Amino acid sequence: MQKLVVTGGKPLRGELSVQGSKNSALPIMAASLMCGGECRLHRCPKLTDIYAASRILNCVGCRCTFSGNSAAVDSRSIDRTEIPEELMREMRSSIIFMGAMLGTAGECTVSVPGGCELGPRPIDMHLAALKRMGVDISELSGRIVCRIPSGRAHGAKISLAFPSVGATENIILCAVTADGETVINNAAREPEICDLCGFLRACGARITGDGESRIVVKGKAKLHGCEYTIMPDRIAAATYLSMTAAAGGEIILTNACVPETEPFLSVLEQTGCSIYTGENKIYLHSGVRLRAVRERIRTMPHPGFPTDAQAVLMAALAAADGTSIFEENIFDCRYRHTDALIKMGADIQVLGKVAIVKGVRRLHGANVEATDLRGGAAMAVAALAAEGTTQITKISHIDRGYEKIEEAVSALGGDIRRA
Ligand code: EPU
Repeated sequence: MQKLVVTGGKPLRGELSVQGSKNSALPIMAASLMCGGECRLHRCPKLTDIYAASRILNCVGCRCTFSGNSAAVDSRSIDRTEIPEELMREMRSSIIFMGAMLGTAGECTVSVPGGCELGPRPIDMHLAALKRMGVDISELSGRIVCRIPSGRAHGAKISLAFPSVGATENIILCAVTADGETVINNAAREPEICDLCGFLRACGARITGDGESRIVVKGKAKLHGCEYTIMPDRIAAATYLSMTAAAGGEIILTNACVPETEPFLSVLEQTGCSIYTGENKIYLHSGVRLRAVRERIRTMPHPGFPTDAQAVLMAALAAADGTSIFEENIFDCRYRHTDALIKMGADIQVLGKVAIVKGVRRLHGANVEATDLRGGAAMAVAALAAEGTTQITKISHIDRGYEKIEEAVSALGGDIRRA
């Protein structure tokens, strides 16, 4: 089993080009199976989750191949609507293939993605919405069997109880080829939703309102292939910024999506780092000790503070001057990284959805285990700032979302290697 060995205390300096967004690439790959032609996707990050998505595409009869950071998906030869359980279980977001398969073949059999590292992640909103669009859904020995009797879904007015990213994506995917108009109220406003819609529009879909709470999709019988560049990953950007803030130094992120990263930057700025932004660029300088963030850091749907950046910022604040308070409002179990941070000397108290982080003078190295993707990245952030050496095991979690993290950090002067 591989691990990351990190020796802290070295400032990070240099320029880093931000990888493509995992959470955009995954639904876009699913959407590419609806095009009945070839799609070329650029800035596709090389991640284990992306390869899992390509295995699903190949399994249903598409041809998905990679060349560097570009993927080609040919969906002319789809011949299967059932996704085997082992492929579904490889990643939670495989559920996004449900809307895409329904939109293209009118039926699919998938598995309940089940609980994951972040706690139970129900799909009740996905299923209720698809039912409103004419999909018959039944459960057969743990498998979800979906069928549209007429072969084509119909438009519907859907109001989500919570702006779920995955449910919004599944509804959009099913709606683009549905008969009539679909309106999604209280839709998720995450930038990755806009990226998915941008891709679908490039394939001929008619969608308006993405990025706002009310999305309108006018169904259309057929889509076509296209060439599309995936947006940069705002959470990878937040992670490398947190590393530099914690370890000290200065970094220029190129290829960054600035407005989309703003909810994170506006909080990070309160730690005393100097941050400047330009077109697709973020500059950060961290010289002295970080200051705690005075206002409560509440994770919220976009444009609120992103839950995916909660752990990495917490790691940076673990050795700041003063006390920072986090409130996790999106997932029930998103503080699992705190035990590892405490093992590294952090003073963190978790009380339900609140975590109280009292900045300590210095963290120290320890042997820790990645608990989940962002939690594992948080351990790397803490390790780069800590005194001594940290070994992080179970890094398959980290590899799900960060493209060659050790190469990116070593190029900035960090002492990190994969062993
Ligand atoms: N929820 C329900 N019922 C549903 C759907 C969601 O109760 O039918 C709940 C979830 O259990 C959770 C909350 O609603 O408590 C938010 O879930 P959402 O559906 O918005 O999240 P998701 O689509 O499962 C995506 C990202 C996550 C990111 C969240 C929130 C992908 C592949 N995943 O998950 O990314 O945290 O949105 O922004 O896009 C990560 O990258 O580390 C990651 C976990």
